[in-house]
Amino acid sequence: MVFFIPIIFFFTTLLSSPATILCLNQEGLYLQRVKNSLDDPDSALFSWNDRDDTPCSWFGISCNPSTSSVSSVDLSNANVAGPFPSVICHLENLTSLVLYNNSINSTLPLDISSCRSLRYLDLSQNLLTGALPHTLADLPDLRHLDLTGNNFSGEIPNSFGRFQKLEVISLVYNLFDGSLPAFFGNVSSLKMLNLSYNPFVPGRIPAEFGNLTELEVLWLTDCSLVGEIPDSLGRLKKMKDLDLAINNLHGPIPSSLVGMSSVVQIEFYNNSLSGNFPPGMSNLTSLRLLDASMNELSGPIPDELCSLPLESLNLYENRFEGKLPASIADSPNLYELRLFKNFLTGALPENLGKNSALKWLDVSSNKLSGEIPATLCEKGELEELLMIQNSFSGKIPASLGDCGSLTRVRLGHNKLSGEVPAGVWGLPRVYLLELVENQFSGSIGKTIAGATNLSLLLISRNNFSGEIPDKIGWVENLVEFSADHNRLSGALPESILNLGQLGNLDLHNNQLSGKLPSKIESWKKLNELNLANNQLSGKIPDGIGKLSVLNYLDLSGNQFSGKVPLGLQNLKLNLLNLSRNHLSGDLPPSLAKDMYKNSFLGNTGLCGSIKSLCENTTQTKSQGYIWVLRSMFILASLVFVVGVVLFYLKYRNFKKAKRAIDKSKWTLMSFHKLGFSEYEILECLDEDNVIGSGASGKVYKVVLGNGEAVAVKKLWGGAKRACESEDLEKGRAPDDGFEAEVETLGKIRHKNIVKLWCCCTTRDCKLLVYEYMPNGSLGDLLHSRKGGLLDWPTRYKIAVDSAEGLSYLHHDCVPPIVHRDVKSNNILLDGDFGARVADFGVAKVVDMSGKGPKSMSVIAGSCGYIAPEYAYTLRVNEKSDIYSFGVVILELVTGRLPIDPEFGEKDLVKWVCTSLDQKGVDDVIDPKLEACYRAEICKVLNIGLVCTSPLPINRPSMRRVVKMLQEVGMEIHPKANKKDGKLSPYYYEDTSDLGSVA
Ligand SMILES: *[C@@H]1O[C@H](CO)[C@@H](O)[C@H](O)[C@H]1NC(C)=O
Repeated sequence: MVFFIPIIFFFTTLLSSPATILCLNQEGLYLQRVKNSLDDPDSALFSWNDRDDTPCSWFGISCNPSTSSVSSVDLSNANVAGPFPSVICHLENLTSLVLYNNSINSTLPLDISSCRSLRYLDLSQNLLTGALPHTLADLPDLRHLDLTGNNFSGEIPNSFGRFQKLEVISLVYNLFDGSLPAFFGNVSSLKMLNLSYNPFVPGRIPAEFGNLTELEVLWLTDCSLVGEIPDSLGRLKKMKDLDLAINNLHGPIPSSLVGMSSVVQIEFYNNSLSGNFPPGMSNLTSLRLLDASMNELSGPIPDELCSLPLESLNLYENRFEGKLPASIADSPNLYELRLFKNFLTGALPENLGKNSALKWLDVSSNKLSGEIPATLCEKGELEELLMIQNSFSGKIPASLGDCGSLTRVRLGHNKLSGEVPAGVWGLPRVYLLELVENQFSGSIGKTIAGATNLSLLLISRNNFSGEIPDKIGWVENLVEFSADHNRLSGALPESILNLGQLGNLDLHNNQLSGKLPSKIESWKKLNELNLANNQLSGKIPDGIGKLSVLNYLDLSGNQFSGKVPLGLQNLKLNLLNLSRNHLSGDLPPSLAKDMYKNSFLGNTGLCGSIKSLCENTTQTKSQGYIWVLRSMFILASLVFVVGVVLFYLKYRNFKKAKRAIDKSKWTLMSFHKLGFSEYEILECLDEDNVIGSGASGKVYKVVLGNGEAVAVKKLWGGAKRACESEDLEKGRAPDDGFEAEVETLGKIRHKNIVKLWCCCTTRDCKLLVYEYMPNGSLGDLLHSRKGGLLDWPTRYKIAVDSAEGLSYLHHDCVPPIVHRDVKSNNILLDGDFGARVADFGVAKVVDMSGKGPKSMSVIAGSCGYIAPEYAYTLRVNEKSDIYSFGVVILELVTGRLPIDPEFGEKDLVKWVCTSLDQKGVDDVIDPKLEACYRAEICKVLNIGLVCTSPLPINRPSMRRVVKMLQEVGMEIHPKANKKDGKLSPYYYEDTSDLGSVA
């Protein structure tokens, strides 16, 4: 009997062993509950199984090796979604919790304070909302609190002044809209205080921050700060990084700041700071970067500043005047010096570049004079040399000809003279060589054959002479060659036809002679050809008619003879000027019209072709007669114009009245099943009326009995079949929230959102009835032949309008609505080209308070518009809309499609970035846009670029996008748009380029 017991015992253990679930310890069970509360589309928590004894080997879990109790949970980037898993606080020894970059989408519960052991809490990049729980401050050991990139709002709780051990707090990129709290000044353990990018109410920098003696990083960018920088900050001896950029700070830089003896980096850009730099800057011996650009600082640049081991000194757009101190040349680490747009005078220090490996030098738009220092490239690293709009004189030093690192050289608008050193013509990496408006002489060097990267050669308005060297044909990448207003002579070399990329050839006002090369059609990309006012002769080659993209042709003031080539009439020319030549014979029929008269003036051999062409000799006789005719004509047109205006006003009132009646009729209809004119609508749904077709359905234009048009969208899917076959079994399962959703959308009333009049689901058919937009979609218009209709002011307005629409969806709808398919085809234009956002076909109402966004894991969006993070997270939030909207902005600026075979592997975003890098901004902007808007276009382009930042955190909110766009419009006051400074790495480049265009 006695030995049965062990045997039975043995058997029972054997039997129970499959059910080891009993063995998972309590902490493991808590974590199982966490797992169950989360949505885990990627099965990141697959290893959280119930067969282990402890959770210590699970993904993201670490344990104390001796007690096996969980000490840390790290689910960074796991793509889990759901409310904050409070159960996790049952892990009594949990010291570190990291849920970085997931979709935790609830509020942060008060009972977070039961996580008693927490030292490290990182919930950044989630969708947390609501107010911060005041109980966070009750965590006795908390050292690190990172809540960056959530949607927390309201005031920061007072209790946050009570943290005992907190060293790091980051609340960057949230929606805190209370005041920037002074009580942080009591948290004496703080080393890092990051509050940037929150819509705080305007307030001062609390002087109490001066008590934070341990502070190393104070980051308060874009926090609506006003007033002066408090003196007390100078007490922060350990401060390394002080960033107060993009605020409205006034007054001087306090002299106490030179007490921050450890400071490495100071960012003051984009404020209204004034006065001189305080004395004693040389005490900041660790300072590496100083960016005080875009303020109102004045006076000389202090000598002291220049003796520091700076790496980057950015002072552009201030009011510095006086000379640059010679000691700037002694700074051993200075590799970036940008002093753009100031009032600096005198010469550049003689030894600049000798002691430091200078990479970028931008002193454009100052009053500098003297010679270009020969030492600039002594270390062989100089890449950008931007000196436009100064009074530099003398020759280009020969040493620059050996500076193989140069990529961008802009010396335009100075008083430089002499010959350009042979080496400079042939610099192998330079893509932009600009020498415009100087007094250079000599000829274009044969060495230019070595400039294999050169794409822009701009040497207009100098005294260059001699022949254009045959070697020019070797510069295969040349896109623009402008050398007008020089004294170039001889014939165009035949080799110039090798320039297959050439888009713009401008050699007007020179002394060129001889014939044009005969095979002119090899310039396949030539867009603009200006050879006016030379002594060119012979025939205009017939091949000119084959230059299919040519739209600017000026050959006036030469000695061309023979007939006007027939092929010219096939070109789509914006300008044609062949006047003052010796052309003769018949004009091509479609050019032999009065409207082309000015194109052919001064060619006696053409007199017969257009009646009025040579009439000016008879003019004096019949002048009186003409005067009478003219005044009659003016009178007639006046009457006509007044008539049209009156008619228009009447008509508009009439229409308004009519629309009001119709509206009242429609608004009576709610979004319930409707019995009204669905027959009327259904009847018109035949294929002749289809105006579009998208992923979610077909769109029809329906003109109702009253004459008003509506757009009707018939949804695909189950409903599609249902619409076609009548004998569908009735009583299907109730719909998947479709009606609820439509009801939400139907309630939206905003001027920049297409109105949803109603929805009918009769006969199981889903129809959405929208207001009809006569100008169709932006995408269709922009990318069709009619793209030219959209001038810049119109495009700009479309950008603002649609941004406002989206901003409304994101910020003003409760719950917020993520569009999920923002693209130019979903931006519709009304009769006045006002833009409205349309098609929430795939938009889902993001229910912030409800359960996880389950339905979000369906692929949404259109190619070329999808934010990069979406590809691997499948996470949709407002930031993905902002990316897509950025792509729309880039479309507006470039006039190009979001994906185009011409870009190869790239999409529009990548193409823009690389083109900006390699060729500069002019290659990116739609050539159809007028040059006079360039400055504004550049700014909008920058906004597009920030919106399409690869990291969602760097994308501004839609509300901010609207503001930035509006600020571009307020050009009149130069400070009005200062806030969009330093948005992207391209900003510097753009601003400095702007100067040269003027
Ligand atoms: C937490 O740690 C303490 C001390 O190391 C230990 O006594 C306790 O058992 C641990 N808790 C759990 C649940 O393991």
